[in-house]
Amino acid sequence: MNSTGNYKRHTVTAALPYANGPIHIGHLAGVYVPADIYVRYLRMKGEDVIYICGSDEHGVPITIKARQEGKTPQQVVDHYHSLIKDSFARFGISFDIYSRTSSPVHHETASEVFKTLYDKGAFTEKDSEQYYDAENNQFLADRYIMGTCPHCGYEKAYGDQCENCGTSLSPTDLISPRSVLSGNKPVMKKTRHWYLPLDKHEPMLRKWILESHKHDWKPNVYGQCKSWIDQGLQPRAVTRDLTWGVKLPLENTEGKVLYVWFDAPIGYISATREWGETHGRDWEKYWKDPESKLVHFIGKDNIVFHCIIFPVILNAEGSYILPDNVPANEFLNLEGDKISTSRNWAVWLHEYLDEFPGKEDVLRYVLCAAAPETKDNDFTWRDFQARNNNELLAIFGNFVNRTLVLTHKYFDGKVPEAGTLSASDEEALSSLGGFPEKIGQNIEQYRFREALAQMMNLARLGNRYLTEAEPWKIYKEDPERVKTVLNVCLQIVASMAVLSEPFLPHTAKKLQEMIALEKADWRGAGGSRLHPGHQINKAELLFEKIEDATIQAQVDKLLQTRKDNDAGREVEPQKEAVSFDDFTAMDMRVATILEAEKVPKTKKLLKMTVDSGIDKRTVVSGIAEYYKPEEVVGKKVVLLANLKPRKIKGIESHGMLLMAEDKDGSLAFLSPEKAFENGSTIS
Ligand code: MF3
Ligand code: ZN
Repeated sequence: MNSTGNYKRHTVTAALPYANGPIHIGHLAGVYVPADIYVRYLRMKGEDVIYICGSDEHGVPITIKARQEGKTPQQVVDHYHSLIKDSFARFGISFDIYSRTSSPVHHETASEVFKTLYDKGAFTEKDSEQYYDAENNQFLADRYIMGTCPHCGYEKAYGDQCENCGTSLSPTDLISPRSVLSGNKPVMKKTRHWYLPLDKHEPMLRKWILESHKHDWKPNVYGQCKSWIDQGLQPRAVTRDLTWGVKLPLENTEGKVLYVWFDAPIGYISATREWGETHGRDWEKYWKDPESKLVHFIGKDNIVFHCIIFPVILNAEGSYILPDNVPANEFLNLEGDKISTSRNWAVWLHEYLDEFPGKEDVLRYVLCAAAPETKDNDFTWRDFQARNNNELLAIFGNFVNRTLVLTHKYFDGKVPEAGTLSASDEEALSSLGGFPEKIGQNIEQYRFREALAQMMNLARLGNRYLTEAEPWKIYKEDPERVKTVLNVCLQIVASMAVLSEPFLPHTAKKLQEMIALEKADWRGAGGSRLHPGHQINKAELLFEKIEDATIQAQVDKLLQTRKDNDAGREVEPQKEAVSFDDFTAMDMRVATILEAEKVPKTKKLLKMTVDSGIDKRTVVSGIAEYYKPEEVVGKKVVLLANLKPRKIKGIESHGMLLMAEDKDGSLAFLSPEKAFENGSTIS
């Protein structure tokens, strides 16, 4: 078996979304749209393929959401599961099954996998002390413990992270921890957990990923795996003290469930099993036959789980295949800001479908064209409008429409016969022949943006050909020539009707009906498909112009969200009092930045040479995301001069430049209001 083909069947999974919020454009661009393009393409090539997804319904955030809303976790997941399932269906994501992890078949499958591994001795057991809420008789997950951050003093830091300063924490790092449930101080209590010793599987992972997949996995995916493996893998607990989840299938383990990242990926298998059982199909082949090609579509935050932990589980179980590829995408931002469910900074799929009925394909198009394949990318409403108006409408729609309208006008909607072909006809037809292959190859290599760009190049080719041939000008003198021109145009339209289907399935269907195309198979899409005399149907518009006002309404909606967020924002609480002496102990000076350069291999750090009036010194600051080196040179700033020297990325930094921090984390220099001399003191 190799990655370029020769597989008997394809098992394609898309990350199971958490059932605690609706689907937004970030999910779609990163996972569901590319996966959907991929499977639609394979189906059109006549491949045996199943496309698997479902809701991820376990995990602590769901229990927290339930608590906040005064509901049971089951009620929460029921609500979001149907919302998500329904919006995917309306959008045209063509899963073969959309299942869920709270289903009995999943609980059974996940328990079986755990039990098999347990019986094989694949786990280690360890007792440890964990925080426990005595009033509620419950061990506390990290998110159920709050306390003061040891780094920044923020009093509402969680047991796994301080959301104020971003530091990741463990519960015992917190100063004065308290239980979210009772508010009491938690006590330490002994508990037993089962661990997957990832370290023992390092040789397998090295061989499988670092050797075999060095060239076919995306660099971002391969790189993350390599750095995980090189850092040394640690045993991972795969059980938790919780009541919501898949119960441990072992005696005397009341109150313990499988860790959500243990059970969720098994959800792909349970869903396949459910599909097999309801469709009378043998599901096991899709997971156990080495002639099946398994591909996981995910976002970059899921890489370690799909490339390391789940494969270790599958491998230890013994009867399963491993993924052939895990084409993870980066993140999509919205109008320059990180998409955030809690800040409501998103374009929600179900709202889009309500507000833009019939425009599913426009969103698919924009999300694929701007997909974050190799780096994070930005969705803006202006770009959405421009891509609709200048690309879908002006290129794709316009060419199709002109061709069909002219065919009706001159030939009553019957495909005319081509006469002698001119050089330009030959050229158009021969380049047409190359498109199925070109587009297909890009799809098979998970380069969906490029594949889409090629598909649009086909439309461009048609547009250019038609514009140059100008049949409307020559019809009177040379109707024979017009027959040939429109025949060629119609062949291009027929190809577009097929080759656009993975990307724009609604449009493609509509177009296939308009030209009465019987079969949309990929392989034949480069040749002549419409025979002379074939009757086409009435031409309808495929796309319509999106007006400024429509876009403005969406931009306004986001502005309103921004305002709401600002209004509801808490200002950081005042820190503890300091003495005057504490303050005067700090030696702050006016200084000038003389030189600046980025610290190689870092995102945030600038290395600067600063004239402090006392000396010229090196200062390293984490400001590179907000200032370019050339922007800071010459700036008058404030230097905390007597901060003990610190090594940052191997560079000794002598002092700190004072910065103001905005609510979104942006940084700005403090500067003296008049250009005082370097070395002037501050008090
Ligand atoms: N729910 C996870 C997320 O949204 C993805 C789970 S993928 C699975 O990040 F493989 F675990 F199912
Ligand atoms: Zn903090």
